[in-house]
Amino acid sequence: DIIINKEGKERVAKELALRVKENEVIGAGSGSTVYLTLFAIAERIKSEHMRIEIIPASMEISMTCTQLGIPQTTLWNKRPDWTFDGADEVDPLHNLIKGRGGALFKEKLLISCSKRTFIVIDKSKYVSRLGNNFPIPVEVFPLGLEYVDDRLMTLGASKTILRMAKGKDGPILTENGNFILDAWFDTIDLSLEKEIKGITGVIESGLFIGYNVEVLVAE
Ligand code: A5P
Repeated sequence: DIIINKEGKERVAKELALRVKENEVIGAGSGSTVYLTLFAIAERIKSEHMRIEIIPASMEISMTCTQLGIPQTTLWNKRPDWTFDGADEVDPLHNLIKGRGGALFKEKLLISCSKRTFIVIDKSKYVSRLGNNFPIPVEVFPLGLEYVDDRLMTLGASKTILRMAKGKDGPILTENGNFILDAWFDTIDLSLEKEIKGITGVIESGLFIGYNVEVLVAE
């Protein structure tokens, strides 16, 4: 781990921006640290006339890149040299829960395709055991909702909650047109990510077990 104690997320964002090299393709996840890092990267692009491209994990991040004048590309023609993202929980083995922002499918895709991934968190995200504070977000094809819900309970979920949209009636729809079921598990073992993914109707979960990520802690 690279532990950064002195300053907060802004400091880490600047550290990450300094890693950017000419002509790199960089994956960007979601969350406040990702925004701060994009601002820092945009400053380098302007001051050093760098050519880089971002692959964004969500429309919000894509819009931010557009507003900041950062060129973008897609996974159709490029692979990220590295990706940066946040997380909602991180355990001592760097297993993660992500997906508070609802972009978990594209975030997992980006991290899976990247040669290297940096996860930036503050200390509050560090837990001794995943599932202490956050449920596992599960993106579900809408018609599969009841079936997936039953199967999650069979896998040991103690509670599932269909994520509801703020300011409108009904559930949140992801960018892929799916629902999110937040599933609480008292025990999260190493096989759970694959077991959840094995349920027909599940698009992806926000559980990341055994991914090769480097964790930066901003205090
Ligand atoms: C998005 O779906 C999440 O996984 C985020 O990465 C997470 O919520 C991090 O947000 P902050 O950078 O604001 O802590």
